[in-house]
Amino acid sequence: MSILVTGGAGYIGSHTCLELLNAGYEIVVIDNLSNSKLESLNRVSELAKTDFKFYSIDLLNKKALETVFSENNIEAVIHFAGLKSVNESIETPLHYYHNNVTSTLNLCQTMGKYGVKKMIFSSSANVYGETKCVPVTEEHPLNPINPYGRTKLIIETILRDLYISDHSWSIALLRYFNPVGAHESGRIGEDPNDIPNNLMPYITQVAIGKRDKLKVFGNDYDTHDGTGVRDYIHVVDLAKGHLKALEMVIPTTGIDVFNLGTGVGYSVLDLIKGYENTTSQKIPYIFTHRRPGDIDKCYADTTKATKKLGWTATKNLEDMCYDSWKWQKNNPNGYNE
Ligand code: NAD
Ligand code: WQD
Repeated sequence: MSILVTGGAGYIGSHTCLELLNAGYEIVVIDNLSNSKLESLNRVSELAKTDFKFYSIDLLNKKALETVFSENNIEAVIHFAGLKSVNESIETPLHYYHNNVTSTLNLCQTMGKYGVKKMIFSSSANVYGETKCVPVTEEHPLNPINPYGRTKLIIETILRDLYISDHSWSIALLRYFNPVGAHESGRIGEDPNDIPNNLMPYITQVAIGKRDKLKVFGNDYDTHDGTGVRDYIHVVDLAKGHLKALEMVIPTTGIDVFNLGTGVGYSVLDLIKGYENTTSQKIPYIFTHRRPGDIDKCYADTTKATKKLGWTATKNLEDMCYDSWKWQKNNPNGYNE
């Protein structure tokens, strides 16, 4: 029996594939490589010292998807595939709704047809929208403020309705906070196609000299130093959370939702200082205006994941900064050697 990983060539997917292989799971990977490179999977294979099947297909192509289910004995699906840029989703909402929602419908229909009813879905802290109180529990009101976040909430709703209609499904909705860092080997990591939107990859590109300086978006937030506070989580901790979720989903039925974060909030300035101290690289920065749509602080209450999944993040800010830097330093052009 295999675990099907959609979007497995991507940032979080590749790290999770490696953890799955290291734990002895057999995997099958689907990715259309729209935001990733095949090289990430070559390196996963190299690190795990084992091979696995890869299908370069689009989840929107239902016929191709059926082939994967007919050719393999799939036990459960970890569904990472999706588009994830908030800005892009505002510019091209239909593309985002089509890619994220339609592909999930195709996936669920095909899973149902082949009797595969166990799924882990990559949701996001983005579904909470403006945080009313921190730390954020899973019960916090859901009010995403951009099309990307709304695709995630729509998919969560679809999966809940699916479970209501058929109680033999078993589904974990995982709401990630801010994934950063890279595998300790420095062989796999985050490889943004363009100018990074997110803070950590931007900082690493400043550190390596690809960008002059970081623009800190706002220093008048209601936080300890005026800059935005987030819950950064090491991608390997996050990947391990999926293995815990799998252990819950496989032997049971039901649907449940979990925050995956560290529970600790760091500001932009904390991250810059942490990066400088850990890597001895200077990160020049300037303060600019707030980025539209940003909130002052967001960090997770992770009690539920600890209690029900037996999972807690173990890596600290130093690990996150060090591993991001190691990946960037060893791969200045990402997977384009
Ligand atoms: P990523 O872009 O690196 O990985 C997503 C992968 O899905 C890519 O390899 C892409 O090529 C593939 N893909 C996209 N649409 C596809 C389709 N129609 N068919 C087949 N493959 C397709 O992103 P990531 O950071 O690894 O994120 C993985 C998941 O986690 C996404 O669903 C994302 O929305 C969610 N998430 C990410 C973050 C984050 O900050 N990275 C935070 C919360 C949630
Ligand atoms: C973090 C902090 C910025 C860049 C996004 C998505 C979220 C999830 C994770 C997918 C904020 C500040 C940033 C820069 C800066 N992804 N910043 N200068 O916005 O918390 O979350 O990624 O699900 O859904 O919205 O992450 O890394 O973009 O920003 O000052 O160049 O860094 O203002 O305070 P964010 P981020």
